Amino acid sequence: MDKVALVTGGAAGFGLAITEKLLVQKYRVLVLDISVPADTQSTDGNKIVLRGDVTQQTHWARAVSTVLEKWGRLDVVVNNAGINMTGKDTHTVDEAFFDRLININLKSVYHSITACAPVMLKQKSGVFIHVSSVGALRPKPKIAYYCATKAAIIAISKSIAIEYAPYVRSVVIAPSMGNTGMMQLNLGPGVEATPENIAPMLANIPMGRACEPSDVASTVAFLASDDACYLTGNVVEVDGGRHI
Ligand SMILES: NC(=O)c1ccc[n+]([C@@H]2O[C@H](COP(=O)([O-])OP(=O)(O)OC[C@H]3O[C@@H](n4cnc5c(N)ncnc54)[C@H](O)[C@@H]3O)[C@@H](O)[C@H]2O)c1
Repeated sequence: MDKVALVTGGAAGFGLAITEKLLVQKYRVLVLDISVPADTQSTDGNKIVLRGDVTQQTHWARAVSTVLEKWGRLDVVVNNAGINMTGKDTHTVDEAFFDRLININLKSVYHSITACAPVMLKQKSGVFIHVSSVGALRPKPKIAYYCATKAAIIAISKSIAIEYAPYVRSVVIAPSMGNTGMMQLNLGPGVEATPENIAPMLANIPMGRACEPSDVASTVAFLASDDACYLTGNVVEVDGGRHI
């Protein structure tokens, strides 16, 4: 396999697991993440990490030109980077945070399409995989604007799925609460991630456990593969039944 993937937010959580899974499957992977101290490249050359911000079109342009210079093509884009919000009364969310949430969770998708779709359309192949959330389908209180960003991603994905067919596919995955750094945010400041503290958050997940990064990674690997070649515009819930 010499497919090439670009994964945003690939330094931690779901994105790290996605990156590792794709590398095992012999993809070459470029990670774009804001939390790494510097750009790096693995010794085998199959993984490049760029320090960059998904809200910046110039960072996307650099990521895409790096991918094309190094590997000559772009097969899969995983729009994974995102932030959540702590449970706050919706009417108290300040405007600066609202704008930040929209920029990171939603405008990043605009940038990804602007930067990557022309490459894929020219190649006549490619897959966008957008990481939404079950919160888009079953919103919870006090995360209204987070859920809104994740719902908007579904609309964009379905629209481009029609527009770019048959060559470029676009699919969404919608995880439930994940066993990542975001879990701490969901718990709130100072609350330890003990089984007792997590239990209430698991109560509405029929399978009774959090979404593991490996659950997300294996779903992304399938959706990216040719085995999923007739899937476009789908929303795949990776949520232990939480959406039901
Ligand atoms: N963990 C959950 O409970 C959960 C549930 C459903 C959906 N999601 C979604 O899954 C995705 C990944 O979440 P996670 O739990 O792995 O989060 P995480 O916080 O563990 O990791 C997010 C990664 O994104 C990077 N990132 C954040 N802002 C960025 C920016 N502006 N530019 C580039 N990189 C940036 C961070 O540096 C980090 O490496 C997010 O879109 C999130 O909304 C998470």
